[in-house]
Amino acid sequence: MNQSIEFIDLKAQYADLKKSIDARIQCVLDHGQYIMGPEVRELEERLEAYTAAKHCITVASGTEALLIALMAIGVKAGDEIITTPFTFVATAEVIALLGAVPVFVDVQSDTCNIDPALIDAAITPKTRAIIPVSLYGQVADMDEINAIAARHGNIPVIEDAAQSFGADYKGRKTCNLSTIGCTSFFPSKPLGCYGDGGAVFTNNDALANAVREIRVHGQERRYFHTRIGVGGRMDTLQCAVVLAKLERFDWEVSERILAGERYLGLLKRVPTVQPLAVRADRTCVWGQFTVRVDNREAVLEKLKTAGIPTAVHYPVPLHRQPAYQALCRISGSLRQSEAVAARVMSLPMHPYIDLDTQKAVVDAVAMAVG
Ligand SMILES: Cc1ncc(COP(=O)(O)O)c(C=O)c1O
Repeated sequence: MNQSIEFIDLKAQYADLKKSIDARIQCVLDHGQYIMGPEVRELEERLEAYTAAKHCITVASGTEALLIALMAIGVKAGDEIITTPFTFVATAEVIALLGAVPVFVDVQSDTCNIDPALIDAAITPKTRAIIPVSLYGQVADMDEINAIAARHGNIPVIEDAAQSFGADYKGRKTCNLSTIGCTSFFPSKPLGCYGDGGAVFTNNDALANAVREIRVHGQERRYFHTRIGVGGRMDTLQCAVVLAKLERFDWEVSERILAGERYLGLLKRVPTVQPLAVRADRTCVWGQFTVRVDNREAVLEKLKTAGIPTAVHYPVPLHRQPAYQALCRISGSLRQSEAVAARVMSLPMHPYIDLDTQKAVVDAVAMAVG
């Protein structure tokens, strides 16, 4: 059975939703408005209702969402943006693209999210924003981070919620927890399209307006450019796919949470494998089901032989990446980021995974860690 284990099963999801996805795509093919067609606003309205955020603006990708968010708050060369080095590169990439400086703060070893206790020490007069990342599908400590930002003159807080769409935090939704929330609809994300896509969320009218203009080359109206922008729209077909997937999203989120709980239960008998800690006041949608192990490379090799697909999110923290070493600033020690980067590995996770498959995965993991 191991041969058929999928890391993420997009085929099972398509089989389940085929009728509505096909119908939604056909509708776009029929009306032919491939850019800014009616599905774009329809999706934005649905996502505003889902998150209770006043504004949702769809954009070309999660990376573009972060870039446009930083542009909307007016980040310029030399500004400092506080974030974590233990994230997908896009979080820091957009900072560097604007000539700003990523300032890396360490993570908590048990959640792998930024440690709010270390943020104060990283703030300087140049700090222009804080980007907590809700890694692996669990929201970062947003209330603590917002409070720090407020104490320092209302520094904008941009949640990188690329991996956490659907997650709850103290009864509120990810993406609507700070100045701006950004998410990704990359196919493997909790809410994925069939290409690239993303969205920006805010309750601030002026920021929403800036994001809308920046998304389309900084134009206030057609061919009148009041600011520097990008070609950052999400296309109508991708919006149509997400609209179809939204029909089953609540079910998928609860299946993800259940699958996560099943893994946590099964892994109790393998004490050398440390899963992520999930805080009591939030849900984790398990964008990845990531655990920490010793001798990771040997364990990965054994799992490969056993037919269990795995991935490493992420093997090298960003302050160790050649492209970022020279341009970042390190605040304090990044010991936890380095330690988790050396030990993390992700196991198969998707809403369609069943108990038998998870048992087979955990059996193989138990054998591999020996
Ligand atoms: C934490 C994080 N931020 C940003 C992104 C970028 O999203 P996208 O791939 O849609 O550009 C990703 C995607 O993997 C991510 O995991």
